[in-house]
Amino acid sequence: MCGIVGYIGAQQAAPLILEGLTRLEHRGYDSVGLAVVGAGREPAVKVVKAAGRVRDLGSDLPKRFSGRSGIGHTRWATHGPANDVNAHPHTDEKGDVAVVHNGIIDNAAALRAGLADDGVTLTSDTDTEVLAHLIGRSVAETLEERVVEALAAVEGTYGIAVVHADFPDRIVVARNGSPLIIGVGEKEMLVASDLAALVRHTTTVAHLADGEIATLTPAGFTTFRHDLTRVARTAAEVDVDPTSYDAGDHESFMRKEMLEQPAAAERVLRGRLDERFGTAHLGGLEMDPRETRAVRRVKVLGCGSAYYVGQMGASLIEELARIPADAEAASEFRYRNPVIEPDTLYVAVSQSGETVDTLLAVQEIQRKGGRVIGLVNVVGSAIARECGAGIYLHAGPEVAVASTKALTNMFLGFSLLALQLGRVRDLSVADGRRLIAGLQALPAAVEEVLAQEDALAAVAQRLAEAESLFFVGRVRGFPVAREGAQKFKEISYRHAEAYQTSELKHGPLALISEEVPTVAVVPDDELTERNVAALHEIAARKGPLVVVTHPGVDLGGLDVVRIDVPHLERELDPILLTIPLQLLAYHAAKHLGHDIDKPRNLAKSVTVE
Ligand code: AGP
Repeated sequence: MCGIVGYIGAQQAAPLILEGLTRLEHRGYDSVGLAVVGAGREPAVKVVKAAGRVRDLGSDLPKRFSGRSGIGHTRWATHGPANDVNAHPHTDEKGDVAVVHNGIIDNAAALRAGLADDGVTLTSDTDTEVLAHLIGRSVAETLEERVVEALAAVEGTYGIAVVHADFPDRIVVARNGSPLIIGVGEKEMLVASDLAALVRHTTTVAHLADGEIATLTPAGFTTFRHDLTRVARTAAEVDVDPTSYDAGDHESFMRKEMLEQPAAAERVLRGRLDERFGTAHLGGLEMDPRETRAVRRVKVLGCGSAYYVGQMGASLIEELARIPADAEAASEFRYRNPVIEPDTLYVAVSQSGETVDTLLAVQEIQRKGGRVIGLVNVVGSAIARECGAGIYLHAGPEVAVASTKALTNMFLGFSLLALQLGRVRDLSVADGRRLIAGLQALPAAVEEVLAQEDALAAVAQRLAEAESLFFVGRVRGFPVAREGAQKFKEISYRHAEAYQTSELKHGPLALISEEVPTVAVVPDDELTERNVAALHEIAARKGPLVVVTHPGVDLGGLDVVRIDVPHLERELDPILLTIPLQLLAYHAAKHLGHDIDKPRNLAKSVTVE
């Protein structure tokens, strides 16, 4: 949530920072700003900021803001509305210090009150502004000491970057809970909250750890603890294709990422399927067969769409491994003081690996001695590092706020885990091989669904006209319906409610009418007949129906819009049934003219509680 970029070196900082901010905008996009340290005998910090997008800062900005070091920020509001004043950077009263900040300062109210009592005039509603004043008021000798002194007063999470007119040769950065990555260039240094802002300039990076601060100068970087003792941290090369962060010829990142799903699916499966023994090899789990067998229960934790795919994954594990498994919203988990069982395998699932609710759930489990593995896309992210063991998803960078390819790979990650857990128990080698064949056929099956895009676009345009919709499914189909509704509301802003098909008659049927369409997930399985009966009940109330189903399913002559997806193995149904729902949401949002990659009020990684 929110993006930070900083640059110090021989080039003009402003254009580089603006370009970096554009690449981070998916992380927060309600306001934007930058601070540049001007050159000259008396260097001054110049700040520009505004509500809106990076492009709103104006194309002539680099000319007005010359200087070879600076910091920038793109914001997702936490404290105070999105307006010019609350945008970052924040400055002290003299305007010598500028600070950009990701995270939340929990004791901001007390610190603001203390500063006001001391006669400081606070201009914004933000928590961040207190940091600028605290640093500005410090009389310590070095900027590093001033930053550390200010941070000592602060409780909460932060990734910060600081420039100061009295210390024009450096940028000081610090991290506690919000990621910061240092990029090493040729006589220049960069810092960013996400690799996306760095890879065009350098792929030599160092991840700052929690509790560390760093000084960046054109010549290099030095890392410290808060007592200012040195920490040895060297930069390493990351294996990343810079073009994977570009939308290329695609009209949006979401469309690009949906179309990348077959290739991404192949990547997560590559080298992990063992046809001979009908199992999966997941070295990253760091569990031998005896430990794998000792697992008595599986609990999946994730947020939003990751939670819904977690539900799909838990069902898959229960079905294949016959271990009780369920999923829970990570955001709720630690607040109910959960019982942590030694023989439960906890699985934290997250695309970004940064979602703070999921990270805190992981820490709660670990604090109580539980074993937790991560299903994470971003390599080296906080959740991946905290878990230590797990399954990387290899979906590649995902930029659109609405997650697609990462979710598909989460499902596949769960399939691999279920296979491995199942094959040390009662899943037969024949069933293991049957699933492997299904997994191998899956990328092509996804391609087949994507090929129906034109037909789905036409359906989506009709659905977009409805103010309110239902998405329904049963058992395996219910998390599919939940994810379908989530995607639809996230980018089309229509009210889309997911329900178990079986529960409609217990209340929500009262809302069905000609104006309220239902998207029903009806796989070819043991529940098809019951599902079709529910469709009749909806049709009898004149509810328009879109049915996502399998070829050959008899819908009893109902007048519905039918979407058929390939049928592989029944356990793998959920993910294939989800793909058309992505396309429905996408084309509904497109028809309504929305900014698909940056839906209102949202951001890509939710790094606040
Ligand atoms: C998905 O489309 C959403 N943007 C959102 O629900 C997301 O899945 C959730 O915030 C979890 O993110 P994570 O996978 O990065 O942890």
